Amino acid sequence: MCEAVRQNENKLIESEQRIRSLFERVEHAIFRINEYGASTESNDRFRKLFGNVTELCDILIGEVSATQCMKRAAFEKTLHLEDKAVGRNGDELTIALSLYAERNEAGGITGFDGYLIDITEKKRLEERLVRSQKLEAIGTLAAGMAHDFNNLLTAILGYSGIMLKMTKEDDPFYKPVSVINDAAKRGAALGKKILTITRKEKMEARPVNVNDLINQSIDLLRSSFPRNVDVVMHLDASLPTTTADPSQLQQVIINLAVNARDAMPDGGTLTVETAVADPATGVSSLAPAQGPGFLKLSVSDTGTGIGPDTQSKIFDPFFTTKEVGRGTGLGLYIVHSIVTNHGGYINVYSEPRQGTRFNIYLPVSTDASLEARSEAMDISGKETVLIIDDEPHIRDLCKDMLVPLGYTVLIADSGSHGIKLYREHQARISLVILDIIMPQMGGNEVFHALKTINKHVPILLYSGYSHNNFSGINDLLKSGAAGFIQKPFSTQDLGIAIRKALSA
Ligand SMILES: Nc1ncnc2c1ncn2[C@@H]1O[C@H](COP(=O)(O)OP(=O)(O)OP(=O)(O)O)[C@@H](O)[C@H]1O
Ligand SMILES: [Mg+2]
Repeated sequence: MCEAVRQNENKLIESEQRIRSLFERVEHAIFRINEYGASTESNDRFRKLFGNVTELCDILIGEVSATQCMKRAAFEKTLHLEDKAVGRNGDELTIALSLYAERNEAGGITGFDGYLIDITEKKRLEERLVRSQKLEAIGTLAAGMAHDFNNLLTAILGYSGIMLKMTKEDDPFYKPVSVINDAAKRGAALGKKILTITRKEKMEARPVNVNDLINQSIDLLRSSFPRNVDVVMHLDASLPTTTADPSQLQQVIINLAVNARDAMPDGGTLTVETAVADPATGVSSLAPAQGPGFLKLSVSDTGTGIGPDTQSKIFDPFFTTKEVGRGTGLGLYIVHSIVTNHGGYINVYSEPRQGTRFNIYLPVSTDASLEARSEAMDISGKETVLIIDDEPHIRDLCKDMLVPLGYTVLIADSGSHGIKLYREHQARISLVILDIIMPQMGGNEVFHALKTINKHVPILLYSGYSHNNFSGINDLLKSGAAGFIQKPFSTQDLGIAIRKALSA
């Protein structure tokens, strides 16, 4: 019997040891408190999270007090809730807490068993996810709005452009018309910006003069700068072009300049500089030593500066030190992704209370003369062009733009009408200009119908969407469309697109 008792005792000890080691090693913080809330036992994880606290009320700092927790657990037997707690270093944690009441035979409470999980990181990720889903929804909405506005702006920009050419400077209509034209241009730039933010993929690149882009961006921003911020520009006139998406680069400049402005609430100086990067001082240890080299764009301010701890985080998505509603923490993340997408590099130098400088290095274009050639290109032509668009003012505008350039223009107000006209006149039609978004028969269907009639017909697409916001455009380009032009466009833009499409 003695032996049996000893064996049982050993088993009990073994089992107790097993449970104790499990208790100590689990990922959950486990604790016991007596009926007054004083801690009687806790595991390693609990002590790691909260140190040697003696009372449950010392850790709960949220909406529900320790007394309320115990009352509810006593009444409902178990309690589960999410609340705030203070960690051993004074940091605020979000916890999921479960509390179980223990009673004696008479039914009196003898204490509580509890376990809790630190869900701070999980909550943070959930919030981020909600935020990014919200942003995506806003993006879709914004892209749709930008599309419709681009249609309206095409008419305003196009016709005010035509009128501007017809009026002399001493004409009383000259000023009103040029103001309308300017406003439409700014509207178009804004629409482009919105479409860039909502972009889905990398855009096509062309040689860009960074100095021009800086001037345009700073012009756009200047009215939002307080008077006590001076803007200084040192732009190297001999700067070579870089191959880039201009609206994305504009986004880079704007985001950096807005950050600089925000860092100087008491005023200061924003300096924007460009220069050819000196290969001797090195662009980045990652940059190739061979090749056409890099140009450098710097944006610096005399503001608050960024502490060394913060510097490592500023490019993270959603990292912001600004109050809710003022910053999303996406600005520098977007800057970083645009710069790296363009084969460039970005560095930051900052001294707290002295200021901050961002240096951006972009590869110099290998075909720097392309843009210059576009500007000087002869856009007149004698060909016959068929325009298919459901919007009367846009197709009329295209006609009014093209006839003075020498083109003969046929017009169709729907997809089926366009196909009919093409069938009848295909011998003399050199190019079809096709709106992609049309009711009933969409551009996609018309495109394929035309290609069935004549698989070599050059078709130039246009839309109020950019080809990054609407994947159908890229599909058509892959299926052999002769080019794409985004609304709104000027006579020059349309003329260049037509010449390129015809010579392709
Ligand atoms: N020029 C600067 N001077 C001081 N701090 C800066 C500067 N630029 C960025 N920061 C810091 O980096 C953080 C992240 O910048 P980022 O542009 O990504 O987001 P944001 O400006 O807070 O919000 P958003 O740009 O989305 O409106 C800022 O909140 C700020 O703390
Ligand atoms: Mg910002």
